[in-house]
Amino acid sequence: MEAKITAIGTYAPEKVIDNHYFESFIETSDEWIRSRTGIIERRFSAEDEYTSDLSVAAVRDLAKRYNKDISDVDFILVATVTHDQIMPSMGTQLQYRLNIPNAAALDISAACAGFGYGITLARSLIHSGMYRKILVIGAETLTKVTDFKDRTSCILFGDGAGAILIEAAENGNIGECIAGAEGSGGQDLYLSTQATQVNGTPIKANNKIVQNGRAVFRWAVTRMSEIFEAIVEKNGLRKEDIDWFIPHSANMRIIEAICQRVGFPVEKSLESLSRYGNTSSASIPLALDEAVRAGKVKKGDKLLLLGFGGGLTYAGTVIEWGI
Ligand code: UT7
Repeated sequence: MEAKITAIGTYAPEKVIDNHYFESFIETSDEWIRSRTGIIERRFSAEDEYTSDLSVAAVRDLAKRYNKDISDVDFILVATVTHDQIMPSMGTQLQYRLNIPNAAALDISAACAGFGYGITLARSLIHSGMYRKILVIGAETLTKVTDFKDRTSCILFGDGAGAILIEAAENGNIGECIAGAEGSGGQDLYLSTQATQVNGTPIKANNKIVQNGRAVFRWAVTRMSEIFEAIVEKNGLRKEDIDWFIPHSANMRIIEAICQRVGFPVEKSLESLSRYGNTSSASIPLALDEAVRAGKVKKGDKLLLLGFGGGLTYAGTVIEWGI
């Protein structure tokens, strides 16, 4: 059996925050944020709105729009770095709240590459013959772990969730996947409640995202250009065969630089950054779903998805859109 994406759904909190919001408490400007990142606005979750709530809403959107019965889902994979609590996992909370009696449930900790890891794992679980119907969710409430005193990072993050359903099918539409890790860069992007160290570097224990923006930027541009090429090659394609490139939405300049390096037209990339900021594991499904709803992504289009982020981690694949 092969793996096929049969439905997609998303949710973002109602509260829209524009760039001017930050001007009152840090030294920044709408102009700087737009030109250096591409972000125009982002969503903030309500005080009592958590990642599990966003995830449930995204799955309900998926079930409603595609008229899907999810009660027989047999695996739930939730990619997040902002779980409501460490234990019980988000996966188990969704299993209960969505009333899915016989599902295994697991959270994935791969930061902004989490959704790509989820697709990679779901595809493998279905190809193994052990599972037939899997929910993959990327969901974050990053604004709950954002350091609003740090102007280099607080302007970046937003909240949102995306979900896809992957089912066993004779003809699948998820191509060969590449997932990897470069732990040597772990200290450049972290979130910790304990004052431990990463690679010998002491880290802060403030439960806020800390990022060495320039280091991650450099790594993303150089390594993700290589991984883009590797994914194309592993799928026996040429880059001209790709209709849409959907990278993690971290910074518009990163997307432009990758496209320039690999010689891929940036107009054929999709982003969720401008309207949602950096939503980590939710950024790829948010961008994809928006393009699906707008009729930009059509049946038969080849999509190259590529997530990258804290860990450092990356994961991507090619999907032939089939719904
Ligand atoms: O999602 C996980 C993966 N994450 C990423 O991929 C993020 C990668 N990094 C980035 O997107 C960018 O590095 C940032 C958006 C975080 C920063 O942009 P940058 O162009 O790399 O800025 P920079 O750190 O080189 O700083 C340039 C200047 C500095 O001032 P000086 O030293 O040149 O005087 C900063 O202090 O911009 C200043 N700056 C700001 N100015 C106004 C930094 N943040 C701000 C701000 N408003 N919010």
